[in-house]
Amino acid sequence: MESLDNYLFKYKGFVFAKGETTEEYIDSLQHFEIRDSDVFLVTYPKSGTIWTQNIINLICEDTTDKIYTNNLEKMPWLEYREGRPDYSLRPSPRFFASHLTPTLMPLGLKDKRGKIIYVIRNPKDNVVSYFHFSHVWAKIETPKSFEDFLQLYLAGNVGCASWFDHIREWYTKREQYNILFLTYEDMVMDLRTAVKKICMFLGKDLDDTAIARIVEKATFKNMKQDPKANYEFIPQDLLLQPQFMRKGTVGDWKNTFTVAQNEMFDQIFKERMGNLPLNFIWDLDTKTKQN
Ligand code: A3P
Repeated sequence: MESLDNYLFKYKGFVFAKGETTEEYIDSLQHFEIRDSDVFLVTYPKSGTIWTQNIINLICEDTTDKIYTNNLEKMPWLEYREGRPDYSLRPSPRFFASHLTPTLMPLGLKDKRGKIIYVIRNPKDNVVSYFHFSHVWAKIETPKSFEDFLQLYLAGNVGCASWFDHIREWYTKREQYNILFLTYEDMVMDLRTAVKKICMFLGKDLDDTAIARIVEKATFKNMKQDPKANYEFIPQDLLLQPQFMRKGTVGDWKNTFTVAQNEMFDQIFKERMGNLPLNFIWDLDTKTKQN
């Protein structure tokens, strides 16, 4: 199926927002010089990016926090420079968020220079979150129905292409990178442990009080009220409503999927992900896991 939204374009198997980046810029990222101190947060959209971004920024608080007015300025998108000065001019340590796949990332990362934190979310909650987001993000078409969006998502005809390909490619190429995998569900279940894992990976030795402060600041309730972190600073011509922080739960898909959609999804999931040793938590009540 090839029915890309008018706001999107396909390049090298990936799907980008039109007008936000160019093929030339994406190609140039291959040779983007990596520093050992670089930190990249990589996700498929709607997997907890702004949450993890906030946690990393809190862990790595430094004097640049006075310069950067919000989390996005401290950790901008690698693939969408949005008029910012050349990233090579940024002081170290640099922080970047990205939705790119390994093929499109700077080649220097393969030398295990720089650090990557990759967050995975179960795809049923992911697609529901993405569906709701499609109603508020001005740069994509509003889906006609959940069924329509689900079909686009399964075909990879949404921004950032296929969830299945994204997870598979990063997971199977993980040995090439200095990478920490986290799951959204583990973060919801035990945020403190997730924060400690990130600290350890980034080589930050924070005491219990500092960890507790970060956990407190990163709860859904507190982050929603934090103007540096909650993305309400995004202009209305891009975001019709401030809805990056919507529900923040595991298992919300059950309020949207029909029984038939769930059966179909399970079948496709099994075909496409069945041979990967990844466990997903679909529901906090039963902590249902599936390979
Ligand atoms: P929902 O739409 O299911 O609520 P991204 O940042 O990658 O776009 O992901 C957005 C999802 O992360 C949204 O999911 C949002 O509510 C959730 N999220 C953001 N901050 C969170 C937090 N502090 N705790 C739990 N979930 C959070």
